[in-house]
Amino acid sequence: MIKVLFVCLGNICRSPMAEFVFKQMVEERGLSERFEIDSAGTNYDCDERNFMHYSAREMLKSMHVPFEEHYSRRIRPNDYTYYDYILAMDDSNIEDIQSLVGGDTEHKIHRLLDFTSNPRNIRDPWYTGNFDESYWDIVEGCQAFLEHLLKENNDG
Ligand code: 4NP
Repeated sequence: MIKVLFVCLGNICRSPMAEFVFKQMVEERGLSERFEIDSAGTNYDCDERNFMHYSAREMLKSMHVPFEEHYSRRIRPNDYTYYDYILAMDDSNIEDIQSLVGGDTEHKIHRLLDFTSNPRNIRDPWYTGNFDESYWDIVEGCQAFLEHLLKENNDG
C-alpha cells in the first residue's frame, strides 16, 4: 500500500483537487487498491472542517473528476509517520509542513511539480482566482508522480 497525502495551505482548493485528480488517475489504471490517498492543509483554521471551494468543485465537475464531500483538516505529526509521500503545492507549504510535523528526517516531503521536468510552485488560486491554471499544474504533477512510482516499481 502506498500512502499519499497532498498538502496545501487551506485544504480547500489545491490539495483536495490533487486528491481527487490522483484518485481518478489510479482508478483508471486499476490501481486503487494499492493506494491510500488523502489531503490536508497547514493553515491554523483547517480543522474548522471547511468545504472544498466552490470553484474547485466546479473545476472538477467540468473535467469529470469524481469527488466526495470534503472537509478541510490540518496536517499533524501522526500524518508524517503514517504517509509515505507528503506532496506539497509550493515552497511555503514545505516550510509550514516541516514546522508542523517536526522536520523531514525520512525525506517524505516533496513539492508535487518537482516530479516534472519543469519544477515549480503551483500558484494558489485562492489568491490568483485562476483555478484552471492550478488544475492543469496539478494534473501535470500527478501524472509525473504516478510515472515516478511506476518506474520505481519496475526498477525495483
Ligand atoms: P489552498 O488555497 O491552499 O489551495 O486551499 C487557500 C484557501 C484558503 C486560504 C488560503 C489558501 N485561506 O487563507 O483561508
